[in-house]
Amino acid sequence: MLEKNSIKLPLTRTNYGKEVSLEVEQGARFNRVDFHCRNLNIGAYSYMHSGELYMVAKIGRYCSIAERVIIGVDPVGHPLDWLSTHPFQYTKKHSPIDTGLTYQSKWQDVEIGNDVWIGQEAMIMKGVKIGNGAVIGARSIVTQDVPEYAIVIGIPAKIIKYRFSDDVIEKLKAYPWWCLSPAELRLIMFDDIDAALEQMSDIKSWDDNTFKKVSVSIEKKQVFFKGE
Ligand SMILES: CC(C)(COP(=O)(O)OP(=O)(O)OC[C@H]1O[C@@H](n2cnc3c(N)ncnc32)[C@H](O)[C@@H]1OP(=O)(O)O)[C@@H](O)C(=O)NCCC(=O)NCCS
Repeated sequence: MLEKNSIKLPLTRTNYGKEVSLEVEQGARFNRVDFHCRNLNIGAYSYMHSGELYMVAKIGRYCSIAERVIIGVDPVGHPLDWLSTHPFQYTKKHSPIDTGLTYQSKWQDVEIGNDVWIGQEAMIMKGVKIGNGAVIGARSIVTQDVPEYAIVIGIPAKIIKYRFSDDVIEKLKAYPWWCLSPAELRLIMFDDIDAALEQMSDIKSWDDNTFKKVSVSIEKKQVFFKGE
């Protein structure tokens, strides 16, 4: 079913969380990636070379994610104001004593828009929202939301510029081109943004259901599929 929809997932790897549900659109290709997330929608033609996915609910369409990227990291996964930060205080797995204490920080998913490029070894902290068309520089650590079409770099990541002028970004907001397949987009002049905007102004409706979807759930290392 995956092959039929040109989807690639590393299903033979064992690095999955206990219960993982994925909704994956056609053409998505995820290679050496560990899935520790719970419910994740992956948009059409997005790819990720390698890395780890923790608290993340959405990766939009046509996203490019480089090597060793980590998404949805918990900055307070251990208690900062207890005697120790070590989990022996609240997890039997790490301790010969049973204290009856629990420590659980809040689950907050990352959401990544469409056409987002994430550079090599970037890290995105939990709860962050990344707007359509944004770029995350290599080795950046993203701790705050990133606006549409912003380019951010550094630790913590800051905006250095935008990919386009305000005027172009405003126009782009009216054209969700990621609703279209590469075949439908083939006549667009990709390398001339003004010409592309002009061409897209002729498109009267944007159908968001263009792509085939496959549901994959992984429970206790067993994989179940549902889809077209
Ligand atoms: C973010 C990025 C797209 C910016 O590219 P750009 O627009 O050409 O930016 P510039 O090269 O003009 O850099 C602007 C400034 O930011 C600095 N800078 C660029 N990328 C940086 C990064 N990842 N971290 C820290 N500083 C960075 C530059 O040194 C420059 O500093 P200066 O103004 O003091 O000279 C690019 O640098 C990047 O990180 N791309 C991802 C590369 C990658 O991961 N490739 C592998 C997967 S395909």
